[in-house]
Amino acid sequence: MRFITVFFLITTFLLAKTPYEKGKTLYISKGCYSCHGHKAEGMHRYPSLANRAKGYLAYKLNRFRDKISDNQQQEMMIAYAVDLSDEDIDNLTTFLYEFTEDDLQERYDDSFETYGDGGS
Ligand code: HEC
Repeated sequence: MRFITVFFLITTFLLAKTPYEKGKTLYISKGCYSCHGHKAEGMHRYPSLANRAKGYLAYKLNRFRDKISDNQQQEMMIAYAVDLSDEDIDNLTTFLYEFTEDDLQERYDDSFETYGDGGS
């Protein structure tokens, strides 16, 4: 019986996702990356979000969720924020604040080379 309990605790621990991982999943699944960049580095007029103050990011997301924007440019954020829960915002901002680049490395490996001539 004790063995089973220990086994159960270990599997629960291994399967549990950290807020960082949950935030990362949300960042991808909600499409945030399409404007703010895969490394949350921002592009054009979309601000960078990586490693910025968690409190500030959460403040902005809460405002967008409440449909408040300070200028026309920000209006487009409202659609992406309306259905976020408090927990989603917490996970997203944890991910963005603690963001480390290595994390998404597999997908953006500069040294990646394609071999061959594309099959022609
Ligand atoms: C269609 C493009 C688009 C998508 C998708 C998008 N954003 Fe934004 N985001 C913007 C724009 C535009 C602004 C406002 C820029 C400005 O203030 O001029 C913004 C602002 C923000 C800000 C405030 C940053 C600041 O410097 O004030 C946060 C935080 C943010 N977005 C998070 C997110 C998150 C989290 C998601 C995914 C749920 C997301 N965004 C999806 C375009 C987008």
